[in-house]
Amino acid sequence: MGIDKRILINPSILNANFDDLENEIDKVSSVSDLLHLDVMDNKFVPNFTFDFKRVTEIVNFSALLVDAHLMIEDPDNLAPKYAEIGCESVTFHYEAAKNTEQVISDIRSNGAKVGLAIKPNTPFSDVAGFMSDIDMLLIMTVEPGFGGQSFMSDQLPKISQARSHIRAHDGEPIALQVDGGISIETIGQAAAAGANCFVAGSAVYKDENPSSMITRLRQLAESNFKS
Ligand code: DX5
Ligand code: ZN
Repeated sequence: MGIDKRILINPSILNANFDDLENEIDKVSSVSDLLHLDVMDNKFVPNFTFDFKRVTEIVNFSALLVDAHLMIEDPDNLAPKYAEIGCESVTFHYEAAKNTEQVISDIRSNGAKVGLAIKPNTPFSDVAGFMSDIDMLLIMTVEPGFGGQSFMSDQLPKISQARSHIRAHDGEPIALQVDGGISIETIGQAAAAGANCFVAGSAVYKDENPSSMITRLRQLAESNFKS
């Protein structure tokens, strides 16, 4: 299962129990598309999650393919290494890269799909020129760094703008991912604006039944998405 499905729900384990990740991932594996793994270095964002060794372990034991979201400095040198260890997709931040074109090509040549992420203050126009080279655009709907923040509805026009671009370039089947504050209350708006790939952290892991929450989120995404 890759990232080319019409609707994808990728749970984030940022707010799961880090001491029991195998079990936490098992709770969602049968109903999720990919596992969203937030890699933070305490430099690009003021928080630390997993080092490279731990990410390698997670990639190896996870029943789900991994959608790595790198919130790190120096993706130019580090992003290809995450592709090399078998992440299905590797997403890096446009704001952190020195040579975006080169990072895209280095991730791809190391065998992963390529995601490009932008923070809330970065306009779509900054990355429009890279759209034909990537597999996924991630529009952050919170400031990266922490789970459990509120969805920023002021990002909806940017999502619509990116979807219009994708529609206008029919030959580019790019996934449009949103990450931050996605819940039962917000997923419909994001889908209606044109997002088709949804990261959900606290909505899933704070629920007493994570897998049924994913199914509910998927139904809302399906019924609101307009391609
Ligand atoms: C934030 C991370 C998100 C986070 C989302 O920097 O990139 O993936 O886990 O968590 P929620 O869904 O709680 O906003
Ligand atoms: Zn993320």
